[in-house]
Amino acid sequence: MTTYLPPDAADRPFDPKDFNPEVLQGQYQEITNLLLASHCGIKAVKTKLEILSDEMQLQDQRNPIEYIRSRIKSFDSIVGKLERRGFPLTVEAARRELYDIAGVRVVCAFVDDIYRIANMLAAQDDVKLLAVKDYIRSPKPSGYRSYHMIVEVPVYFSNHSEQVRVEVQIRTIAMDFWATLEHQLNYKRGLDEDGEVARKLRACADSIANTDREMQVIRDMVTQLDPPAGETDPLKMLSQVASVAGMAGIGPLDIH
Ligand code: GTP
Ligand code: MG
Repeated sequence: MTTYLPPDAADRPFDPKDFNPEVLQGQYQEITNLLLASHCGIKAVKTKLEILSDEMQLQDQRNPIEYIRSRIKSFDSIVGKLERRGFPLTVEAARRELYDIAGVRVVCAFVDDIYRIANMLAAQDDVKLLAVKDYIRSPKPSGYRSYHMIVEVPVYFSNHSEQVRVEVQIRTIAMDFWATLEHQLNYKRGLDEDGEVARKLRACADSIANTDREMQVIRDMVTQLDPPAGETDPLKMLSQVASVAGMAGIGPLDIH
């Protein structure tokens, strides 16, 4: 792989001046702009998801989103991916060709929450859906399951706006558990797909998918046992007011 950082760069805090100018000549400003745009694109998508989560929490009295993580692709990975795919090592190529520089991972409670959230996000006026990979309906040969979307969202700066692409991966806690461990054990290590390790990992992924299905069935049984009270139930109304007030950072008693 092209060395665009000096060999000892990993031993000290990151300094953009470390770039080998022959590889990324004169592109510091563009790199900074790309990273700022990615950072802001992540913020914009996260805010959208958090708003959906707040609303669904109120409606359903449970939170379909367990947590949201995000990351910006590292320089190493950006350069490595451009090289692997035969693209020039330029910021322009990175912007044009790479769809996962900004990444948001949403971890949900149940499988149907994934589709609800994905549909609600895609339906928003300022969200452009560029691609979907449904690795839940069609798991990868490794056994990997998740719902991937590439979306484009607008970000407004002081004197211009940009459409920023963000890869959104949505999965259940169980899928996340498997993917995290498999990533440590196998991903990109190129282990033989028919070997024993790969087979065992696939078996775990299948059994986790079964567990996800069962948990959803159990949730539906519990919901039926305990249907949500109507809007006339004073206790429910009070608890809703209290949760909204909590979200807004004010005590319920401050509402008159
Ligand atoms: P990357 O170059 O890895 O980004 O792959 P891609 O651009 O072809 O997209 P793909 O949809 O295959 O995967 C995108 C992302 O999904 C990866 O970066 C991982 O985060 C995740 N992923 C895909 N396949 C696997 C897998 O088999 N195991 C794990 N743990 N994660 C996976
Ligand atoms: Mg990726």
